Amino acid sequence: MKKSNGKLNYNIAIFISGRGSNLKSIIKSSLKKKTLYKVKIVISNRKKAEGLLFAKKMGIKNYFFDFTKSKKIGGRVLNLLKKNSIKLVCLAGFMRILPSYFIKSFNGKIINIHPSLLPKYKGLNTHEKVILNNEIYTGCTVHYVNKFLDSGKIIAQRKVRITKKDTVKSIEKKVLKIEHKVYPKAIDKVLSNL
Ligand code: GAR
Repeated sequence: MKKSNGKLNYNIAIFISGRGSNLKSIIKSSLKKKTLYKVKIVISNRKKAEGLLFAKKMGIKNYFFDFTKSKKIGGRVLNLLKKNSIKLVCLAGFMRILPSYFIKSFNGKIINIHPSLLPKYKGLNTHEKVILNNEIYTGCTVHYVNKFLDSGKIIAQRKVRITKKDTVKSIEKKVLKIEHKVYPKAIDKVLSNL
């Protein structure tokens, strides 16, 4: 399907667990018709994720799946992705590790945003770790998802300066601000190479 500006329109799925500020920026960028993608479905592992309400408000199909029952659920989610011709899965604050068979089935087509300059500070509590290590810079990284935590090939990265006065909260705010700019562009970069 072609967009009015002549660019291809790829269906993508966003996986979230909570607030969904990245989801919002990804959707908003696509509405400005500046992207190669269309957010077709939103999936959450938490029923009450705020981001699900936003998806609903925007008229985007949204689903809750209990990923703790992973074997059964994985198959159902994969079917849903297939049914909606999803070309790329984007994890945006999705706080669960996907089962390896799921990653294998959607090989090379799952990406994630992480709030640090990978390979530094994988996993949780990245901003605390940045403060403890007296870092001058932190940032965000968009990377491919493989079976190892926060270890796939890096697609895009952006850094932000921090000072001694910064707190976990203020760093979170600074990092989120750049995440919102970096992720939509990184998604387009991946899609343009498909
Ligand atoms: C973002 O900072 C994202 O990088 C991080 O969770 C936040 C989600 O915010 N993701 C991870 O830590 C993944 N390990 P959002 O729900 O407002 O987009």
